[in-house]
Amino acid sequence: MALSATLLLRQGLLHGTKNCILRANSATGTMVVQSRYFRDDQESLPRLPVPPLEDTLNKYLKTVKPLVTDEEFRLTEELVKKFKSSDGVGPKLQQSLLERAKTKDNWLYDWWMNTAYLDYRWPVVVWSSPGLVFPLQEFKTLDDQLSFAAKMIVGALDYKKMVDEKSVPVEYMGKDKLDMSQYFNILGTCRIPGVTRDSIKFFGKESNPPKHIVVAHNNHFFKINVYCDNGEVLSVRQVLHQLRNVVERSTHPASPVGLLTTQNRNVWGKAYKKIRKDKMNRASVDEIQQSIFLLALDGPIVNPTGNIMTDAALNCVHGNGPEGYAGNRWYDKTLQFIVGKKGAVGLTYEHTPAEGPPIANLMDHIMDYIASGKDGLVAESKREPHAPVMELPRPQRLMFNISPDIKQEIEDAKVSLQSLVDDLEMTCFNFTGFGKDFIKSQKLSPDSFLQMAIQLAFYRIHKEPGAHYESASTRKFLYGRTETIRSCSVESVEFAETMLNPEVSVSDKCAALRKAVDAHKNYVKEAVNARGVDRHLLGLKLTAIESGFDVPTLFMDVGYIRSSHMRLSTSQVPARCEAFMCFGPLVPDGYGCCYNPRPNNIMFGTSAFNSSPETDSATFREALEKSLMDMHDVLLQDGLKSKL
Ligand code: COA
Repeated sequence: MALSATLLLRQGLLHGTKNCILRANSATGTMVVQSRYFRDDQESLPRLPVPPLEDTLNKYLKTVKPLVTDEEFRLTEELVKKFKSSDGVGPKLQQSLLERAKTKDNWLYDWWMNTAYLDYRWPVVVWSSPGLVFPLQEFKTLDDQLSFAAKMIVGALDYKKMVDEKSVPVEYMGKDKLDMSQYFNILGTCRIPGVTRDSIKFFGKESNPPKHIVVAHNNHFFKINVYCDNGEVLSVRQVLHQLRNVVERSTHPASPVGLLTTQNRNVWGKAYKKIRKDKMNRASVDEIQQSIFLLALDGPIVNPTGNIMTDAALNCVHGNGPEGYAGNRWYDKTLQFIVGKKGAVGLTYEHTPAEGPPIANLMDHIMDYIASGKDGLVAESKREPHAPVMELPRPQRLMFNISPDIKQEIEDAKVSLQSLVDDLEMTCFNFTGFGKDFIKSQKLSPDSFLQMAIQLAFYRIHKEPGAHYESASTRKFLYGRTETIRSCSVESVEFAETMLNPEVSVSDKCAALRKAVDAHKNYVKEAVNARGVDRHLLGLKLTAIESGFDVPTLFMDVGYIRSSHMRLSTSQVPARCEAFMCFGPLVPDGYGCCYNPRPNNIMFGTSAFNSSPETDSATFREALEKSLMDMHDVLLQDGLKSKL
């Protein structure tokens, strides 16, 4: 805790609030005070509101307009009018939703967990679990790789101390405190497959929380206890010793049982029942599920593309399939760190319990930990006398009994995963033309500017607008998760058309750019205050289903379908270090695009599917870089003109 707080203080990261600084300074004081602060912070958060029906429907119509013909729009308007009229179903559903909200801490939370994640039957690999690529390292020897992995493990456990002590600094959005519960959901957590619906278990929150991690190498899994008898975390040298032992005892690949977790969830749900019938398998699966996290030691990148960022991203997202390291994973596990032989490092995380920011924060903490005190060796030498390396029990091999039936399941998983791996393509890059400092200097919101660049890139390629999802955090509210920012707007389309029209003057282009950025920023303000469109409409739809009503025709209309077919799935995940998150597209003919805006550069992870003849991530990158530079130039030229 002391190290974490000082590190954060030294780097000026306990930003902005007296409350946080008080808490950090109390590192030498009592934990009770910190816990009380934390509990008060959580309990004082407002409850997620249900927006007025009329407001949501008006906003909805605005977002549908750029994506449909005039005739289609008239039909959508008619349906909305009918839905919200006094004899329509809308007011009844709204009333039921308001009643639900009175009885819940967060009216959406359970519904969201199920509809967005646990009911979702497609594989978590590619379709749901993001990758996070850490700053790339250079390992020359096996010991370089293992030393980094050992530091990563101890750095993550150092972070866990803050979680256990409930002293993670409370985050703010402007003046508003944010819900911190996601930070407590990511360690010791695992998704459990089910035949029709999965579940999630938070072992880290149980009265006797796990004290071990699992290390995967060559498809073997080993349990390593990471705490000494006196409750202290093992030192880097002790963990390194254990990792060497793991590598020595797993020189040949084992049967890739982890591949089962890459399957369609129904298929895995059924196979899971089978595999658990064997006592030894059940015990091994339990240890993996209950571990604090998993760390995978990989070999060199398989099938490299020549772009190391892209290679690392693909390895994080799908491990390069059965020919690569996908069998060296357990994709149900919330956190899986990945350390490749040559220096491609990162993680993949199962999305159910948290959004990207807490995960990126954990990564920043690990990288700070590694950078501090000579890679943590100073802290280590202080602890060393407590638990010499010799006394450590050997890592425990987790054994599997692979019956012919399970062998067949693994073979099937290989085939399914390979087709997913063949389909996904990515282009990841560091855009160095400018960063968020330039955008701020133009008095524009960096995030809205980047979203408009993505809209322009799409329009440049497809000559039409694309429905566009951006995640907005609703953590201002208790247990808040996200709202959708519908980034495609009438203004974004006007902007794209204007930018691509050589006849239009620079000042008109600049005006269209500023108008589109402002329109987006206004939507962001609404979304972070839980006054978007999508979560409210989802709530009304689920209320209809739970009340036994027919699903309203509003949800079958072309306007609804087209505006929800998110051809652009985008997200900002900021991190202090040179890192980026990445994920697959939401729809077969779409793009994924995640970015980390930094002061003078922007890291991008983009993706598309090979099976779609219309989309290609390299083309998207080219269009995006051109769009960013065109927008930059227009702003500068207009600025120069107005000075003359
Ligand atoms: N002029 C100058 N500066 C401006 C500006 C303007 N007009 N508008 C904004 N800025 C500044 C802000 O003050 C801020 O400054 P800071 O870096 O000192 O804090 C900075 O630019 C960034 O602001 P902006 O780009 O507008 O966006 P944001 O940081 O508020 O992010 C969202 C917007 C939607 C990304 C954010 O609210 C959010 O919800 N993030 C979570 C998303 C998420 O959960 N993703 C993970 C999904 S897995």
